[in-house]
Amino acid sequence: MGFLEIKQLCKSFDTTPVINDFSIEIVELTLCCLVGPNGAGKTTTMDLITGRQKPTSGQILFCEDDITGLDEHVIARRGIGRKFQVPAVFRDLTVRQNLEVAYSRSTNPLKNIFRFSDPGFVQKLEQVVAQAGLSERLNVEAGILSHGETQWLEIGMVLMQDPRLLLLDEPVAGMTEAEIEKTVAIFKELKKTNTLVVVEHDMAFVREIADVVTVMHMGSLLAQGPISEIEANARVREVYLGEAEA
Ligand SMILES: Nc1ncnc2c1ncn2[C@@H]1O[C@H](COP(=O)(O)OP(=O)(O)O)[C@@H](O)[C@H]1O
Ligand SMILES: [Mg+2]
Repeated sequence: MGFLEIKQLCKSFDTTPVINDFSIEIVELTLCCLVGPNGAGKTTTMDLITGRQKPTSGQILFCEDDITGLDEHVIARRGIGRKFQVPAVFRDLTVRQNLEVAYSRSTNPLKNIFRFSDPGFVQKLEQVVAQAGLSERLNVEAGILSHGETQWLEIGMVLMQDPRLLLLDEPVAGMTEAEIEKTVAIFKELKKTNTLVVVEHDMAFVREIADVVTVMHMGSLLAQGPISEIEANARVREVYLGEAEA
């Protein structure tokens, strides 16, 4: 059965259609890369899945529940986590404290004072620190982290909330080659336990991590399949790779 199903999704801003009859299905425990030229509607699609924007029409099903048009915090609670393009860490807090804040947001805030003795927290912290590769940096202030480390901390903060589905918008933008390589390793581990949708422009990165690639163009589905098929697809080359060369 479907994990995330997007059915005939449409979104207009004023009268301008931005998402146009877009349908896809995301399979559990896979990593899907969402690609397409600037303005194709990738970020808007993320906004519609997470409830930041309401669709004009269409349906979004998560684990067979209709989540179309629900509030952002309700959808987050159902298990859909999101990492934005712009980092949102607390620079004056340590890495560990940032992860604590993220954890307490997802649990009862009244329980915060007990969090140090909360075995759930300690266990989750250990797991996430390993997943996001942050063990060497736990007691460092987030403000002095490198760009790549900041991105991994943000991924860790989303993971503290235990999402079943994780949406990431351009996670390797601005990273060094070495940082991208480490991110590839992080994602390859993550997709054993989580389902991921990653918006990404870096095709070398996409080739490394994607189980399936979904290509959007002008708010619609242009193609979907394994990277080898996508790279050989004449329409995709015309629309997407053609623009990258220009
Ligand atoms: N809040 C908004 N109001 C009006 N137009 C918007 C808004 N958000 C996005 N758009 C438009 O929707 C189109 C798709 O944008 P976006 O989803 O950000 O594309 P992508 O992430 O693929 O680059 C663009 O033409 C953009 O200008
Ligand atoms: Mg975008």
